[in-house]
Amino acid sequence: MEQPTQDPTVEGRVPAVMRAAVLTGFGGPEVLQIRDVPVPVPGSGELLVRVTAAAVNNTDLWTRRGAYGLPGQPDALAGWRGPVAFPRIQGGDIAGVVVAAGDGDGDGRSAVGRRVLVDPAIYDGPGPDANPVGLLGSEADGGFAQYVVVPADRAHDMTGSPLTDEQLSCLPVAYGTATGMLERAGIGAGETVLVTGASGGVGLALVQLAAARGARVVALTAPGKGDLLREAGAAAIVHRDAAPEATADAVAELVPDGLDAVADVVGGALLPALLPTVRDGGRWVIAGAVAGPEVAVDLRRLYLHNVALIGSSMHTPAHFSRLAADAVAGRVVPWVAERHDLAEIHTAQARFARSAHVGKIVLLPAGDRRP
Ligand SMILES: NC(=O)c1ccc[n+]([C@@H]2O[C@H](COP(=O)([O-])OP(=O)(O)OC[C@H]3O[C@@H](n4cnc5c(N)ncnc54)[C@H](OP(=O)(O)O)[C@@H]3O)[C@@H](O)[C@H]2O)c1
Repeated sequence: MEQPTQDPTVEGRVPAVMRAAVLTGFGGPEVLQIRDVPVPVPGSGELLVRVTAAAVNNTDLWTRRGAYGLPGQPDALAGWRGPVAFPRIQGGDIAGVVVAAGDGDGDGRSAVGRRVLVDPAIYDGPGPDANPVGLLGSEADGGFAQYVVVPADRAHDMTGSPLTDEQLSCLPVAYGTATGMLERAGIGAGETVLVTGASGGVGLALVQLAAARGARVVALTAPGKGDLLREAGAAAIVHRDAAPEATADAVAELVPDGLDAVADVVGGALLPALLPTVRDGGRWVIAGAVAGPEVAVDLRRLYLHNVALIGSSMHTPAHFSRLAADAVAGRVVPWVAERHDLAEIHTAQARFARSAHVGKIVLLPAGDRRP
């Protein structure tokens, strides 16, 4: 059976069944299964997108493991917003082509055939400054599949962008989060900002985007990745193989007047150790906790120095529009570290977890590697 609402002139006939990586519960790699499932049907105000590229993120692994915990229950199995409805197709980083629009959506029909970048956030309201309260791939099905349904107003037109679909797919979660962090902390030209986890998805985006804004970027990273991070825009490198106190000493020596800001995705023991290296009136914006979610902070280091600690989750619609405009203009060029077929998702995630790469690991659900 074929879906009736597709436009056969653009992509050919849309099949009734697609290949998808389906998350069947919280657990190890075995709960992620490659299956044939029905192609979703777009409703009013929605588009069906053929997924040409979908990047891997840390949140996919944490959601699979149920590693986000719950308030007061740090070890509870949960997604980032709490329960996850299984089966769920993960993948928040989606680039592709619109192949169909929901019934009655005139605007959506004109989008058919367009290359798009999908804003994966589900917001708490309609305005440009709305908060993200859900994510495609967590609270709704995402892009680790050959097709995905998305709200029409979240599909950003990439006509004219010099970026490949693989490069576009690197942007939404990592560069969206990085844009949100830079905007919420007000990081701009002439400021010195320390970026932690600098070779990771969000970290590398922070290095590139902060440098593009004219900030002086100090990248904290594992040994061996410094040259690539300099190439990405870092002015100085600090290695994270040392104890947190030694890392703090190295930063203090490098930036004797204090950091204007820290853009942190790592957390853990580094946070209390590095807090005194932030200047009076500086900002610490945090969006992740790969080195540990619970830390003991000397609050005097915050209030006696007017240091702002800012939590940052994803981006707002306004942040994403800025990112989409950067993508169309080619002002941001993400790095694709590896590409894999969708059926190789377990290998892709294992390699992601090893963290030996610089840039993003991309899956190619549609089977082609170029737009
Ligand atoms: N708040 C949000 O909206 C949001 C959105 C996306 C991601 N996140 C979170 O941000 C964090 C990073 O995500 P990502 O996708 O960038 O992950 P990622 O690609 O795995 O990058 C994390 C980086 O952190 C460094 N690292 C890894 N283990 C470490 C350790 N034990 N101690 C210190 N540094 C370590 C590594 O970089 P180096 O080798 O260069 O140090 C690694 O590449 C995760 O916690 C993720 O859940 C949050």
